[in-house]
Amino acid sequence: MQHFPSEWGTAGLARSEIPQGFMVETARAGLSRVIPCCVFCTVYSVAMKRMNSTILVTGGAGFIGSNFVLGWMKAGGGPVVNLDVLTYAGNAANLAPLEGDDRYTFVRGDLCDAELVGSLLRKYLPRAIVHFAAESHVDRSIVSPEGFVRTNVMGTLTLLEQARMVWSGLGDEDRAAFRFLHVSTDEVYGTLGPDDAAFSEKTAYAPNSPYAASKAGSDHLARAYFHTFKLPVLTTNCSNNYGPFQFPEKLIPLVILNALEGKPLPVYGEGKNVRDWLYVEDHCAAIRAVLERGKPGETYNIGGNSERANIDVVTAICDLVDEMRPQPGAAPRRGLITYVQDRPGHDRRYAIDARKIARELGWKPAEAFESGLRKTVRWYLEHGEWVESVRTGAYRDWIAKNYAERAAL
Ligand code: NAD
Ligand code: TYD
Repeated sequence: MQHFPSEWGTAGLARSEIPQGFMVETARAGLSRVIPCCVFCTVYSVAMKRMNSTILVTGGAGFIGSNFVLGWMKAGGGPVVNLDVLTYAGNAANLAPLEGDDRYTFVRGDLCDAELVGSLLRKYLPRAIVHFAAESHVDRSIVSPEGFVRTNVMGTLTLLEQARMVWSGLGDEDRAAFRFLHVSTDEVYGTLGPDDAAFSEKTAYAPNSPYAASKAGSDHLARAYFHTFKLPVLTTNCSNNYGPFQFPEKLIPLVILNALEGKPLPVYGEGKNVRDWLYVEDHCAAIRAVLERGKPGETYNIGGNSERANIDVVTAICDLVDEMRPQPGAAPRRGLITYVQDRPGHDRRYAIDARKIARELGWKPAEAFESGLRKTVRWYLEHGEWVESVRTGAYRDWIAKNYAERAAL
C-alpha cells in the first residue's frame, strides 16, 4: 500500500515525462507540482499514453467505499487509487487489510482540488472512476448545508471536468472503454405515500433535504457531461445501505451501539417512516455490474426489496442484541426506545423499483434483511476497537448536539 500525504506532491508527473513548453509548474507546501496550462495541454500530455487497468475510487475510506475497495481487491480486481480527504466519516484504517498490497494506493486529498484531481488522472490514467466521495448525513445537511454543496456539487463538477479533460486526450478505443460511475441515492426522488409505486429511473426528481438536493445537483451534472461532452457516465441511485464500517451517526449502527451500552434509542417522530434497506455488499456487487456491463448515459436504481418502518428496524436490533449479549435479569432492550422530535421535512417512505438492473445487468440482492441485520449486529459487537477509534471528540459533540435539540416526545 502506498500513502501520499495531504500536502501531496509525490503523485505528480516526473519532469522527464512532461513535453517541453506545455506545462506550468506550481509549488505548494514546498513540493513541486506540475499542471497543464489549458485544455489543449492536457489533451496533448495524455495523447501518447494508454489507459490502464487502474480504477480511481473517491471516498474509498468511507462506509460504502471501503466495502467496495475491500471487495474489489478480494475478487482480484486491478489496481485502485483511493482519493479521500478523510472527513470525520472517512477512516483509512478500514483498509488496513490492504497494507503491503502493491495494487492499492491511498491519496489523502480533496475532491475539490482540481490540480490534484487532474494530476492524479494524468499520472494513473485509470480505466474508470467510481465516485463515492460525498457528505452523506441528512441531519448534518439540515444543520449546515454549505459543506454538502461544496463537496457533492462542486466536488463532483471538479471530478467530471478533470475527467473530461484527460479523457478527451485518449485514443478512440480508450475513450470508448472509459467509465465514470457516479454513485447516488434514491433520496433525489423525494418521498412516497404508502400506496405509491416505488421509484423507477423515470421518476421525476424532487429532493427534500439539502443532502438530497446536493446529490440531485451532482446527478444533473453527471447527466449533462454525458449529453454535452459524451463522457461515458453511468449513474446509480441506491436505497439505504447497512453493514460493516457504517459511521455510527446513521440509524442502524447508532441503535446497535446505544442498545449495547444501555442508552436511549432515539426514534424520530412516530417511527413509521419507511426505508428500503440494502446490505452494503449487495450495493458493491451492483456497482461492479454497472461498471462492467452498464450502458453509458444510463441510470440504474438499486434497492433491497426490503421496506421496513424505522420502529421495526429498531425493535429487530434490540432483539438481536438481547440474543447476542444477554443480560440475565435485565429488562429487554426494547425498553430503551425513546420517541424524539422528528427531523424537519422527514421523507415518509422510500422504495426502489430495481427491475431495470435485474433485467439488463442480471443483478439482484443476495442478502435478506434479517440475515444482513444479524451479520451487521455481530460485526459491531465484535469490532469494539473500530467503534472506539471512530468515536472521536467531534463525533461525541455531534451526538450531544443532535439529540439535545430533540426533546423526547
Ligand atoms: P460516508 O459519509 O460514509 O463516506 C464518504 C467518504 O467521502 C468519506 O471517506 C469522506 O472522508 C470522503 N469525502 C468527503 N468529502 C470529501 C472530499 N471533499 N474529498 C475527498 N473525499 C471526501 O458515505 P457513504 O455512506 O459511504 O456513501 C458513499 C456514497 O454513496 C455517497 O455518494 C452517498 O451519497 C451514496 N449513497 C449512500 C447511501 C447510504 O445509505 N449510505 C445510499 C445510497 C447512496
Ligand atoms: P439515516 O440512517 O440517517 O438515513 P437517511 O436519513 O438517509 O434515510 O436514517 C434512517 C431513518 O431513521 C430515517 O427515517 C431517520 C430515522 N432516524 C431515527 O429515527 N433516529 C435517529 O437517531 C436517526 C439517525 C435516524
